[in-house]
Amino acid sequence: MDITFLLNGESVELRGIDPMMTALDWLRETRRLTGTKEGCNEGDCGACTVMLSCATTSQAVNACILLLPQLHGRALRTIEGISGPDGQLHPVQQAMITHHGSQCGFCTPGFVASMAVAHLNGETDHETALAGNLCRCTGYAPILRAARDSQNLPVPAWMHTDQQAAAALACPPQAWLPESSDALAALYMQHPDATLVGGATDVGLWITKQMRALPKMIFLHRARDLQTITPSDDGATLRIGAGVSMAQMLQMAARHHPSYAALIRRYGSAQVRAAATLGGNIANGSPIGDNPPALIALGATLHLRRGDARRTLPAEAFFLDYGKQDRQAGEFIEAITLPSAAPNLRCYKLSKRFDQDISALCGCFNLHIEGGTEGGTKGGIVRAARIAFGGMAGIPKRAHHVEQALLGQTWDLDTLARAQHAWADDFTPLSDMRASAAYRLDSAHGLLLRYFHDLAGQATHLHEVMP
Ligand SMILES: Cc1cc2nc3c(=O)[nH]c(=O)nc-3n(C[C@H](O)[C@H](O)[C@H](O)COP(=O)(O)OP(=O)(O)OC[C@H]3O[C@@H](n4cnc5c(N)ncnc54)[C@H](O)[C@@H]3O)c2cc1C
Ligand code: FES
Ligand code: FES
Repeated sequence: MDITFLLNGESVELRGIDPMMTALDWLRETRRLTGTKEGCNEGDCGACTVMLSCATTSQAVNACILLLPQLHGRALRTIEGISGPDGQLHPVQQAMITHHGSQCGFCTPGFVASMAVAHLNGETDHETALAGNLCRCTGYAPILRAARDSQNLPVPAWMHTDQQAAAALACPPQAWLPESSDALAALYMQHPDATLVGGATDVGLWITKQMRALPKMIFLHRARDLQTITPSDDGATLRIGAGVSMAQMLQMAARHHPSYAALIRRYGSAQVRAAATLGGNIANGSPIGDNPPALIALGATLHLRRGDARRTLPAEAFFLDYGKQDRQAGEFIEAITLPSAAPNLRCYKLSKRFDQDISALCGCFNLHIEGGTEGGTKGGIVRAARIAFGGMAGIPKRAHHVEQALLGQTWDLDTLARAQHAWADDFTPLSDMRASAAYRLDSAHGLLLRYFHDLAGQATHLHEVMP
């Protein structure tokens, strides 16, 4: 496979690349650009953070789980290209010096890369922008001070060039990089044994941690039509392409489903959200993926495609058993349709750390309650219920028994107490390193109580109840 991209503003053409090589290994071993560091090699620490731009966006990503073919047609900027061509420091670098934001310095290039991207994009929520960067010795206060201190300084000219240059890059189409969903469908029919690669936030780890050999890979990031979000004519639904990133999902959800947005805000880190796709998060079939419970609670529909044959199925029907999904050879997820509004949708993620952690359990609730006096719902009648959980079974799963225990009942604490027994009918969770079975069952019921109070307008979110 041949690829063309920009590295720190200069065009690079590579022929006959190993598609399993990570950008980090290539930078350090082939180019000797050793400013970008390897810490965890699995997307968790941010030491390898680089800036990746296409024609419209520049984002921080983890180079350790970014595969070389994902660079095709894009612009990569490493720490060596964040200072100016004449060695002039970027404002965030100068601020890191002023505020003593670095001690051993190992994490510093990654922090600076994340800070420079946030600075370019005018992001001032520095805790969120830096949640994917870990520092073992300096402590975060000086780093956050440096980010705040530099946020209003002008963006250096050299940081502005990548998007335009990526748009102008002449990029011949490549066999394993289909340019549309039609091309993907045809290619995947010919090679149903190939591994599809969305953002590689799972597949990258198969390579770096499991040492798996992947002889055939089809990369989806060039299929632009998989990255669109389209409202229906009446505006009632949104069709979301499977290649839409979690960063795009966050923007969509902030407009349409605020509670879903709060869930995605805690999905990995900015670097992971920039790469991970909605299709990948569903297709991997993980019982602890964060999107499936929300999609099931919303009553979302999956659009699957195999060649020219298309079919749809409810999101929950896709997950058959642990590690087993309703997907045939050569079939891929093309899109997901979900309602554009669901005022009673609430999503709750419980994990050991607030940021950058996989869910111990994730519960999503979407009830329709008729009548009710206080806060609009209390004392009303439950007319429809969709409750879905991750982390409670081998698959993301609906809580049918709990839903039945609520349907037609008065929405009050007595009904919730009567429904409590039904959790054990729906779920037999496991004990693992994230949580015990008992904790999971207790917490599921606790989250239903939280939902009750949340709908009544009481503060239940960590950021609301903590000063
Ligand atoms: C540091 C870190 C933190 C993470 N945090 C979270 C988290 O908080 N919550 C969470 O849910 N997950 C988390 N993950 C897991 C990961 O981000 C997700 O599972 C991710 O959504 C996978 O998407 P991707 O595009 O990167 O998939 P890839 O790695 O590219 O692919 C994953 C699987 O899906 C298949 N696939 C991809 N696209 C399609 C398609 N369109 N049709 C059919 N099959 C397809 C691939 O072949 C592969 O089997 C984290 C991962 C890392 C590394
Ligand atoms: S080396 Fe830790 S995120 Fe890449
Ligand atoms: S300065 Fe040492 S790890 Fe951050």
